[in-house]
Amino acid sequence: MTSNTHVFDAAEVLCTEGFQAYFKELANYFASNKRDNLTYGEFLNRTARATLPLACNQEALFYTVAYAWPHYLTMRKLIEDLIEVTADNGSIKLQVIDYGCGQGVASIAFIEFLIEKGLTENCEIDLVLIDPSFVSLQIAQYLCARLAKAYGINMTIQTQPCELKDARLPKANIYNDTIHLMSNVLDVDTVQESLDDLVSQIAKIPGSHLLFATSPSYSGTQAGFNMLKQLTPYASVWQEDDIKLWHEQYIITQDRWMQCSAKRDLMMLSWEASDAGLEVAC
Ligand SMILES: C[S@@+](CC[C@H](N)C(=O)[O-])C[C@H]1O[C@@H](n2cnc3c(N)ncnc32)[C@H](O)[C@@H]1O
Repeated sequence: MTSNTHVFDAAEVLCTEGFQAYFKELANYFASNKRDNLTYGEFLNRTARATLPLACNQEALFYTVAYAWPHYLTMRKLIEDLIEVTADNGSIKLQVIDYGCGQGVASIAFIEFLIEKGLTENCEIDLVLIDPSFVSLQIAQYLCARLAKAYGINMTIQTQPCELKDARLPKANIYNDTIHLMSNVLDVDTVQESLDDLVSQIAKIPGSHLLFATSPSYSGTQAGFNMLKQLTPYASVWQEDDIKLWHEQYIITQDRWMQCSAKRDLMMLSWEASDAGLEVAC
């Protein structure tokens, strides 16, 4: 059983140099601690290709080294390409919900987007992190809190250690805008089974909404995207499939770094609560 000290150390790097440096720090840690690591086969078998909740720190480390960097880049590209952040009176106030957040890759991509756009002054975020893996959720909470503190973001974090079928979304929204993050979850069967109930809760949240969804280009991803679109006929849809994303990756099975490409599907939904039938209180 490995401890989490390497994550705490790497969090320091996250706050000063960003997520790429955090990922590289953990990949280098992984490469120099081979005896403690899981093999590729062990990880895939236990986690059903990283779709089941992670059970221990060893699995969390493996996931970050094997998958986190392309996942971060994909969400970052989607946000970067489509989001228009306008700071009213120089302030950003948002609710962010990260569904099946794992170790917080999508939330970190969003926070780093704000940091790089210089939007962290007078920035308030209510972050809701939902994942059935307690280990992942703890890391996500720790990293987001550290990053927010380092950049002066006024952030509250609520964690829900549960599957989406048991999630209870905020009914009120003290801010007008909600960002929904679905990073590599819409291809997961149990997530798809929860969508109906989840979307009825989402439709009750007042204000303006942007939902960002990314996943590898699997048939399961298209099934999840289609279900979500069918359940939200009031939303405007932007979608791009099969985009090729080049990135530098540590190849665990070969113990070396190389340039790799990953195929991803990206989708953004946007709507106003009134489009979803929610009456606006006067
Ligand atoms: C491929 S990982 C994605 C994690 C993270 N969003 C990312 O992009 O790195 C899939 C995540 O879904 C979570 N998960 C699996 N089944 C779930 C369910 N029914 N409800 C909520 N989350 C679930 C897992 O615990 C895991 O963190």
